[in-house]
Amino acid sequence: MSEAESAIRPLVAGNWKMNGLAAALGEAAAVRDALPGLGTGAPSVMICPPATLLAALAAAAKGSNLEVGGQDCHAAASGAHTGDIAAEMLKDAGAAAVIVGHSERRADHGELDRVVRAKATAAHRAGLTAIICIGETKGQRLTGLTLDVVDRQLKASLPDSVSCTNTVVAYEPIWAIGTGLTPEPRDVAEVHAAIRKSLEARFGEAGRRIRILYGGSVKPSNAKELLSLPNVNGALVGGASLKAADFLAIIRAYA
Ligand code: PGA
Repeated sequence: MSEAESAIRPLVAGNWKMNGLAAALGEAAAVRDALPGLGTGAPSVMICPPATLLAALAAAAKGSNLEVGGQDCHAAASGAHTGDIAAEMLKDAGAAAVIVGHSERRADHGELDRVVRAKATAAHRAGLTAIICIGETKGQRLTGLTLDVVDRQLKASLPDSVSCTNTVVAYEPIWAIGTGLTPEPRDVAEVHAAIRKSLEARFGEAGRRIRILYGGSVKPSNAKELLSLPNVNGALVGGASLKAADFLAIIRAYA
């Protein structure tokens, strides 16, 4: 591990996606209550609930080590955009971060890299950390295009306002999301090394310190192996973040 990398505190973030009614706040409370008992190597921990639960979860997390994030934001600060949420509103509700460019947003809502970049800019404007997602399809992986695709997305989705504290990159191979499949550890390490190189080339010293998360079917049984790879500074966890016991087991991979 390089000196710059060992200075990075890992982040384990849970992405609840479109899951969770008010009763699910109990799972978040169980995570919150377990955090003080973790050792010194404990990572930062975040839950990104659906927007309907954000303010309640933020209130429950206040004064604890649990951070709260949104799952998407609009690029504008306010205006006639029915159904959308501004980064400023997420901040106001208690969020510290927002996921932008998740592959499900890119696929379901046709979000292109330039839209993702505008949303990341909005997150920075509002004082939120942007968790910017990139990743290849199965077809791109099979045809050897992964590094090209990821580098293109990285360059086009990150705004110039990126710093090591306001941005996290999440590498999420689309074919690994929700499928139980994960890339070989050496393949994860290869992509993360390429992302690190690209970040360093563009952002210099800050690029050495930006967290690069792995996401896609992270679970208690594979967390230790994936999270110990070079340049893997944490995880973005979907399905396994819904139950406190599973999410905590992943967090404890750092114990
Ligand atoms: P998964 O989702 O852990 O359920 O594969 C990860 C993600 O989409 O962030």
